[in-house]
Amino acid sequence: MAHVNVFDTTLRDGEQSAGVNLNRLEKLEIAKQLERLGVDIMEAGFPASSQGDFDAVKEIADTVRGCSVTGLARANKRDIDIAWEALKGGAEPRLHIFLATSPIHMTHKLKKTPEEIVETAVEMVAYAKEKFPHVQWSAEDASRSDLDFLVHIIEKVIDAGATVINLPDTVGYTTPDEYGKMFQYVKEHVPNIDKAILSAHCHDDLGMAVSNSISAIEHGVRQIEGTINGIGERAGNAALEEIAVALQIRKDRYDYQTNLVLNEIKRTSDLVSRLTGMMVPGNKAVVGRNAFAHESGIHQDGVLKEASTYEIITPAMVGIDSNRMVLGKHSGRHAFKQKAQELGFELNESKLKEAFESFKNLTGKKKEVTEDDLFAILTDTQTENEDQPKYEMKAFQVQYGSINRPTATVLLTRPDGEEVEKANTGEGSVEAIYNTLDDLIDADVHLQDYQLSSIGKGRDALAEVHVQLTVNGVKASGRAADQDVLEASANAFINAVNRTLNRQYKDSYQQVQV
Ligand code: KIV
Ligand code: ZN
Repeated sequence: MAHVNVFDTTLRDGEQSAGVNLNRLEKLEIAKQLERLGVDIMEAGFPASSQGDFDAVKEIADTVRGCSVTGLARANKRDIDIAWEALKGGAEPRLHIFLATSPIHMTHKLKKTPEEIVETAVEMVAYAKEKFPHVQWSAEDASRSDLDFLVHIIEKVIDAGATVINLPDTVGYTTPDEYGKMFQYVKEHVPNIDKAILSAHCHDDLGMAVSNSISAIEHGVRQIEGTINGIGERAGNAALEEIAVALQIRKDRYDYQTNLVLNEIKRTSDLVSRLTGMMVPGNKAVVGRNAFAHESGIHQDGVLKEASTYEIITPAMVGIDSNRMVLGKHSGRHAFKQKAQELGFELNESKLKEAFESFKNLTGKKKEVTEDDLFAILTDTQTENEDQPKYEMKAFQVQYGSINRPTATVLLTRPDGEEVEKANTGEGSVEAIYNTLDDLIDADVHLQDYQLSSIGKGRDALAEVHVQLTVNGVKASGRAADQDVLEASANAFINAVNRTLNRQYKDSYQQVQV
């Protein structure tokens, strides 16, 4: 069975999704989970795009040991030097350089002739190879490039030292047959192609990213690139969990395997969705809420008699367990710590104390604390920056009735420690709270998006709120979970504001157009 490397770009291409802004700690948490999932290579970011991205890539490269960490660079010495500084402490430093090869991009975006593109690509791959043991070169917009030009430039960059050649379908334009044939052509015409691994990178604009990736594998590709939940630019990237599960379920047709630990898929998907605020659609393959729900009587009857009648993937295969009650109000610190470790969290003493307090708080409100609840508490604690001055809500009250205009009163501690209190009204309870917070916060804040979902099922499920704001013109996202929808709404708003106080998050896309 041939092995296919999994190259995860959730933290780079995935983070380029509109509205996604991960901070350093959130990226680190996702990186650790990707390591547990068993990806071979993770693209941690684009170090030259911003200080925030540089810091996050460096921390991930210095921490992760179970897989190779890479970073993106344009084909220039500055980007390559910065990437080296970020990645040199990694287990297997690897650079990902890209340069467009399609007539549209060369003419209109780069304003360079094909000869100049070849010269730059060769020069920069050779330069990178002086530092990095592994250099991947990507022909951006490869699927709209001239095949013979691709053959020519690929031969040259392999001679210059590239060991992985990635041919992206940057705009999600290709079809399975066409994309497969492109790789076939390259394999047949590039004389030194056996010195490099071919890689596929697909976008989902026409909904074919996963099919295109699988076709590429069937035509000789031994590395697939994608993201968890398929998040990414525009319509997103190929969903890695879908490719890995398809190869496994249809191994009768596909003689390829990946290193992915399939039963870590659900947890990885949940973490990425929670931290990015990109909700997973209910009907999404493999990880959607309804992916294993059988609604019609005929289907339910069939599944009860024999699961395989209507179920081709078992929930357990991808790590979907019944949402067990894991700890109760009598559980102590030791049991809590052990469960946190089982869930993959390594908390220092102060974070452990904080998380345990949140857990105890929750057991006061809710009889049964499920694995999902714990996961939410631990993720929030672990990704919160302790040293940062911040706004904190001390108390709030909302008066609501079908006749009166809703009024909210909020008591807030400001970053300088001063306590302030105000009241304001709104059309609804959430608006009343947000208008009051607006009055209390020293910034020009505008709500752009608000999403409410539940963690777990049932009447006592936690409410999770994701918001997108602009704070003094800067985009910021925030999230919070609580048993009470209004408290979660208020805290998500405050969380977004706090994230702009210390610009540890980044918006690389605003600064550098990839
Ligand atoms: O889609 C694309 O072409 C990319 C490159 C930077 C590899 O993401
Ligand atoms: Zn891409």
